[in-house]
Amino acid sequence: MLLFSSKKDLIGHLTTLKNKSISVGLVPTMGALHKGHLSLVKKAISENEVVVVSIFVNPTQFDNKDDLKKYPVTLDSDLEYLKNISKDLIIFAPPVRELYSNNISSKEYEFDGLDTTMEGKFRSNHFLGVATVVEKLFLIVKPNKAYFGEKDFQQLLIIKKLVEKTKMPIEIIGCPIVREPNGLAMSSRNERLPKELRDQASFIYKTLLAAKALFGMKSATKVMDWVKNKFDSQSVFNLEYINITEQETLNPVKRKHKNKKYRAFIAVYVDGVRLIDNIALN
Ligand code: PAF
Repeated sequence: MLLFSSKKDLIGHLTTLKNKSISVGLVPTMGALHKGHLSLVKKAISENEVVVVSIFVNPTQFDNKDDLKKYPVTLDSDLEYLKNISKDLIIFAPPVRELYSNNISSKEYEFDGLDTTMEGKFRSNHFLGVATVVEKLFLIVKPNKAYFGEKDFQQLLIIKKLVEKTKMPIEIIGCPIVREPNGLAMSSRNERLPKELRDQASFIYKTLLAAKALFGMKSATKVMDWVKNKFDSQSVFNLEYINITEQETLNPVKRKHKNKKYRAFIAVYVDGVRLIDNIALN
């Protein structure tokens, strides 16, 4: 396994590989790796000759300084975890100054409204920070394919839009959500919950499954109201939003069309820990 912290060294290494027409896959992460990341890395390994995993806690995507401080930095165990997947991975774990020099700020982007709803509404500038760092990583690694989890489905759409707008020749691959046995979507934030609350948090996925069944019979508004009532009756949860939207545009559902895809998105606080999840409805 090769570990780089300097972008110049990584670019030098990758240039040699690319001159031999070797295909490169990139899995961007913020570390604190779990089985969700594992599935991205495995998929990337199966589709590319060389795989780069970046580990970088990106300061510009945190609107809340406390959240950034609390974000677990576990480089040694992450490296150990990755080594057990494959000894051939290339790891890029740069310090902040390597990506941002002295200017730790986000670029401005226009994402056609994808970034102003849900996560974009409740976490100001979050997606500008994500796009800024992902564009930097794309320009350094110049991957053929890059892998993102569907748990952050809105992020996935925004990265696809970024690539479309900047005309970078990178294929963006979305990978299915990986869940704990009780249905809770894998997230580094789950670690912050005691076992008992983690069990209770499976209620989020169970409610999404029930909402999916209901969506076959009821309007989007009725299903969203039903979900809100469900969460109101559970004091351990604080529902931030439940949105049912068209899958590709994130526009609200006016009238259901059988040839359109819809998705439900949810953000819930469990004992101060913010969890998100989503589900395809048809
Ligand atoms: O999904 C994440 O872990 C982050 O938002 C990403 C894509 C690595 C950018 O920092």
